[in-house]
Amino acid sequence: MRAKIVAGNWKMNNDKDESKELIKDLKKAIKKEGLKNTRVIVAPTFVNLSSSIKAARKSKIEVVAQNMHQSKNGAFTGEISADMLKSIGIKTVILGHSERRTYFNETDVSLAAKVDAIIANDLETIFCFGELLEDRKSENHFAVVESQIANALFHLEADAWKSIVLAYEPVWAIGTGETASAEQAQEMHAFIRSTIEKKYSKKVSDKISILYGGSVKPANAKEIFSKPDVDGGLIGGAALNVADFTGIIKAI
Ligand code: 13P
Repeated sequence: MRAKIVAGNWKMNNDKDESKELIKDLKKAIKKEGLKNTRVIVAPTFVNLSSSIKAARKSKIEVVAQNMHQSKNGAFTGEISADMLKSIGIKTVILGHSERRTYFNETDVSLAAKVDAIIANDLETIFCFGELLEDRKSENHFAVVESQIANALFHLEADAWKSIVLAYEPVWAIGTGETASAEQAQEMHAFIRSTIEKKYSKKVSDKISILYGGSVKPANAKEIFSKPDVDGGLIGGAALNVADFTGIIKAI
């Protein structure tokens, strides 16, 4: 059975106290829920990772990073390595978010190198991708998504896929309030799974958790999560509010 995952990408929000407070509130809120097969993840900014890990102790909340550099160390001002993240207990890193691609020039090629560093360091990645509005309007969305996955991930051995969680985030739905319909999400997720099956095997594709991201809210989460190939969500805005995030977790 695939893991169900609800992950909150906090982006550049929440200072140290706000991060601790939100985790404390989240701990209380999810304690009552069974959530046996659900992973609950939060991704605070780098400087608050250590304090957030401490705040999340004795709970099922996993604290993950929002990015990582591919090199072991060296003259890369402002960057963070796998060793640094591992040294504070981080096990999972979000890579390839559309904001990283748009504002920081990350490409399929640079992301492939980051994914290699994830595998070499026994980390896990939540790997993000998704089409632009113009791609969907011109009906190129399947081709775009296929190339994003193929270019960054299809050099991996089948065994490496146990370290990969996919997050389909159509760029037109991120922070816009406009979400993909549950049918659109299912259609794309099924396409992604079949693309992986074709390249690798059903055994590999069946095990991959594919999250949907883009304006997920408590009001639409249940319908999106009810689809068979949607294994959870990567949540932005609604993850900053404990009631909304808990509502989304409950929806799964
Ligand atoms: P929103 O939920 O704010 O649309 O953001 C989604 C996202 O980018 C998560 O990584």
